[in-house]
Amino acid sequence: MDSMEVNKAIASVLTAGIAFMVASLIADGMVHPTRLKETAIHVDMPAAAGAPAAPAPEQPIAALLASADEKAGEKFAHTVCAACHTFDEGGKAGVGPNLYGVLGAPHGHMAGFDYSAALKAKQGPWTYDELNEWLTKPAAYAPGTKMTFAGIPSEKQRADVIAYLRTLSKNPEPLPPVPAQAASAAAPAAGAPAGGAPAAAPIGPMIAAAQPAEGEKIMQRDCAVCHTLTKGGKAGVGPNLWGVIGGPHGHMAGFDYSAALKAKQGPWTYDELNEWLTKPSAYAPGTKMTFAGLKKESERAAVIAYLRTLSDNPEPLPAAAKPAEGGNSQAGTTAAGTAPATEGSPAPAK
Ligand code: HEC
Ligand code: HEC
Repeated sequence: MDSMEVNKAIASVLTAGIAFMVASLIADGMVHPTRLKETAIHVDMPAAAGAPAAPAPEQPIAALLASADEKAGEKFAHTVCAACHTFDEGGKAGVGPNLYGVLGAPHGHMAGFDYSAALKAKQGPWTYDELNEWLTKPAAYAPGTKMTFAGIPSEKQRADVIAYLRTLSKNPEPLPPVPAQAASAAAPAAGAPAGGAPAAAPIGPMIAAAQPAEGEKIMQRDCAVCHTLTKGGKAGVGPNLWGVIGGPHGHMAGFDYSAALKAKQGPWTYDELNEWLTKPSAYAPGTKMTFAGLKKESERAAVIAYLRTLSDNPEPLPAAAKPAEGGNSQAGTTAAGTAPATEGSPAPAK
């Protein structure tokens, strides 16, 4: 008798509910690919006052990543990038490749996806800074790319999105070293735990201030017995170290690495090298590198600053300890060559 009415009532409630869901999904920005034009993707235009609209950001993204909002990045990615990309592990390619695990993976990381020659020509893994450059303006980073997406002008939004991409992994990469104002306020060496514990404090600011020449001396003293450093140099007891920063763990083709080192995922970051060089056997228990470690943080920073130069295309320096408030965005880069180490002196032991 009344059941018909009840059914109708339920049906209408359901219909309204579905309509509401659809509306809110649309409002959330489930943009259909065919509706996408470049204009649809421009997020807020260079809102950051004074930020140059230059396609290739010179500033490492590290500082912004530390305060990035990965939830906002997720929302953005699922709104804007989802028109072409999936994000879940094993997700299918759309117009673009699936993006699970892209950070730290090689350019063109999805097996079977038909990448442009432009993207395939890029060497090495996707670093934070490269993703930043790419997302600023894909066509400038890889002219001829198939990703017909204008770019994200807002640096803050790029940082959010990259922070989100970082989470798409079973084993997310460590965040890049933070150029902490905080670090200069606190004692510079405070973060280096004594003894065997892996170094936890980001070493970026110290690397930026270190003298590569000091690092070279230390390496001649401590490392050269086992490692060659020149491009194409032969393996000794240890692998050749040309290009190790940003390269994968176990980066020298043909070298017989320990299982311990081979098990490490992703590229060598500054912080990982710092941890490794503090105490190799703590970073990779079972490693073949029978070297106790460099106790002094200043020595590790100098060595890493020198390792960085062993490349045709050195990784960007981590941001310096005191980012210039006054807008000299190059400060972090130029400091490396000239600035003396601020804390003590690197004190090369004889
Ligand atoms: C209009 C479609 C489209 C949109 C929108 C789009 N992409 Fe892409 N994306 C592509 C295509 C196509 C490629 C492959 C590019 C090539 O081969 O040159 C790609 C490649 C990439 C890669 C490199 C993947 C790899 O395996 O090396 C990343 C990272 C990426 N996109 C991130 C993003 C992010 C983040 C957004 C949103 C801010 C976005 N894309 C928006 C189509 C798109
Ligand atoms: C007694 C020999 C020895 C000394 C001394 C030594 N290493 Fe090594 N190093 C090795 C070996 C062997 C490996 C490979 C480790 C493995 O497979 O577990 C290695 C690996 C490395 C790696 C990783 C390379 C890669 O391709 O992933 C780096 C970086 C490194 N050493 C840096 C240094 C630095 C810097 C010093 C000096 C402060 C140093 N090593 C001192 C033997 C040595």
